[in-house]
Amino acid sequence: MSFNLKDIISIRDFTKSDVDYILKKAEKMEPIAKSEDVCHKKDGKLLGVMFYEPSTRTRLSFETAMKRLGGDVIGFSEKGNTSVQKGEVLYDTAQIVSQYSDAIVMRHDMEGAARFISDIVDVPVINAGDGAGQHPSQTLLDLYTIKRTRGDLKNLKIALVGDLKYGRTVHSLVYALAMYNVEMIFIAPEELQMPHEIIEDLNKLNCKFTMKSTLLDNLEDLDVLYMTRIQKERFPDPKEYLKVKGQYTLNRSNLEGSDTILMHPLPRVDEINFDVDDLDNAMYFKQAFYGVPVRMAILDSIIK
Ligand code: CP
Repeated sequence: MSFNLKDIISIRDFTKSDVDYILKKAEKMEPIAKSEDVCHKKDGKLLGVMFYEPSTRTRLSFETAMKRLGGDVIGFSEKGNTSVQKGEVLYDTAQIVSQYSDAIVMRHDMEGAARFISDIVDVPVINAGDGAGQHPSQTLLDLYTIKRTRGDLKNLKIALVGDLKYGRTVHSLVYALAMYNVEMIFIAPEELQMPHEIIEDLNKLNCKFTMKSTLLDNLEDLDVLYMTRIQKERFPDPKEYLKVKGQYTLNRSNLEGSDTILMHPLPRVDEINFDVDDLDNAMYFKQAFYGVPVRMAILDSIIK
């Protein structure tokens, strides 16, 4: 098995074999991610971090992953502290960070931004989220979580709930699930349903899916329930956000006694009550931890 991608921009650039390669490598990285073993594979290498949008998990787990591999990190998590404030354009900032680092991980509010810089710099680029576009490393850790918990990715039934219009995690995830013949249920208010172009793609891929607006009564039929936050920051009109806010909330009684695993890319707002957190099938904190071995696998594969 080999991995030939230079950049990690969209899950659609991956073959199933590329995905399987990363998931297998991530398993080997777990003891290092847990600090049970040490690694010097990327000693002397630097990851350049460019975060134009807020992040907790993605940025910190990439930084942790790089350091666990023996490397180090430079960069910014807030564009307000950079020369962007003086009018520097993305093209120039990317050129500069690429002069100082061996790979770049970038989050940006503009869809296509990561692809744009990957075309102009010589170092590998990882898309850590581009507007409502893609979030491929999140997808890989989501798949890893499902595989570690369920044992396999094939022939599962998964419901994706919440903001399917603006949520980049689900826009990435559905393409990956389509590779594994997963049956999907899209649960969202009509105005936040999966974008038409993605639905068309899934039809072309002969993917099995249905669309609903109410949270299922029989959640226990599902292998995975994947909740998402309504992406307030992407609504052009705040009044539209208020209309759909708080539509889906899970509490302990919805999940207790069921085998369905509950995932969420986080942050949560009001989708999952705190009384769910200590159930065995509440996987979202473990899912966030799995971001470390998966991102170690990604960095190890693309930084030479
Ligand atoms: N899941 C995720 O992308 O979280 P952050 O926005 O905190 O990075």
